[in-house]
Amino acid sequence: QKLDLELAAIEKGGYEHFMLKEIFEQPQTIYDCLRGRLDANAGTITMAGIQQYADQLIKANRIVMIACGTSWHAGLVAEYIFEELCRINVEVEYASEFRYRNPVINEGDVIIAISQSGETADTLVAIETAKAKGAIILGVVNVVGSSIARASHGGAYTHAGPEIGVASTKAFTAQLAVLTMMALKIAHIKGSISEERYRLLLKEMEEVPEKVAIALKQNDHIKQLADKYKDARDFLYLGRGYNFPVALEGALKLKEISYIHAEGYPAAEMKHGPIALVDENLPVVFVATKDAYHEKVVSNMQEIKARKGKVISVITEGDTTSTELSLDTMVIPETDEILAPMINVVPLQLLAYYIGVAKGLDVDKPRNLAKSVTVE
Ligand code: G6P
Repeated sequence: QKLDLELAAIEKGGYEHFMLKEIFEQPQTIYDCLRGRLDANAGTITMAGIQQYADQLIKANRIVMIACGTSWHAGLVAEYIFEELCRINVEVEYASEFRYRNPVINEGDVIIAISQSGETADTLVAIETAKAKGAIILGVVNVVGSSIARASHGGAYTHAGPEIGVASTKAFTAQLAVLTMMALKIAHIKGSISEERYRLLLKEMEEVPEKVAIALKQNDHIKQLADKYKDARDFLYLGRGYNFPVALEGALKLKEISYIHAEGYPAAEMKHGPIALVDENLPVVFVATKDAYHEKVVSNMQEIKARKGKVISVITEGDTTSTELSLDTMVIPETDEILAPMINVVPLQLLAYYIGVAKGLDVDKPRNLAKSVTVE
């Protein structure tokens, strides 16, 4: 018993929970994911399992991302990135829906299956269905040699190392890193991105691990915020563009870990429903870093503030407008909007973690949830 406890403590590397350890590993896991692949000076991205299918990807009429849970959110971010950089039509599907509805698969469709465990039953069956209809399957998987990795024609591993906490954290940012590199690589071969933008994004990408480390310095501040907001009954998370899926992921993390009801929504869509929930008791978390949508998000913040909602925002360093509109802020270093989700999600992971801890919950093993869902 004592030995078991000591072993568990060693595995957690000095952290109180695996979830916190895994959140803090992200500068390293993203770095590991880029290492040996991305070379900003040479202007190259080396991914053999993608290169092999480069022709099909460039000619693809459609890419379909298939996943569940947090991995599905990574697919949503990738949809925005692929459409912007590669000019390919992308659809993102819940594996459980896709597999049962006799989906239309056309020749030349490429399926990207995203899965941490590589064992999620719905995702596995979905790709087998698509494969039988002639689609090319590329896996973005963390666990080497897993069922989804084996069922795929090609793809790329996320190399985030074992993820023990049930709520996914480091696997998510590694998925984003891999999917972003894939999009950049395809766009470059296809010629749908300018050489200048490509080079710039490669350089910016190399700086992401360091910027995630800077974001993590908000740790103590976020712990205090958690104490302040832990008794809220509901939370709303809002974002637009690349930050819309980040809002969804922030809400999912909070639900999983703290059992607080949380909803993620596209910020502009809130006026079609969720705004009815806003009162002086509702914390509204905005993912509002500087990007093409920023002015619009600021006006959404004003709308919430006018209805006395408690605005908490994830913002770019030096953004005084958003600071004035917010009760509390979490500050993030600036990066390109395409890469921002990898950094912006980090404070939201910490917020969910510390609220769960403040409520005395088992954050590594939330009730009713499983790390990998191998039954439907
Ligand atoms: C479970 C886990 C989630 C995960 C989802 C998909 O619900 O609790 O954290 O996002 O499955 O898992 P996968 O291994 O396919 O990414």
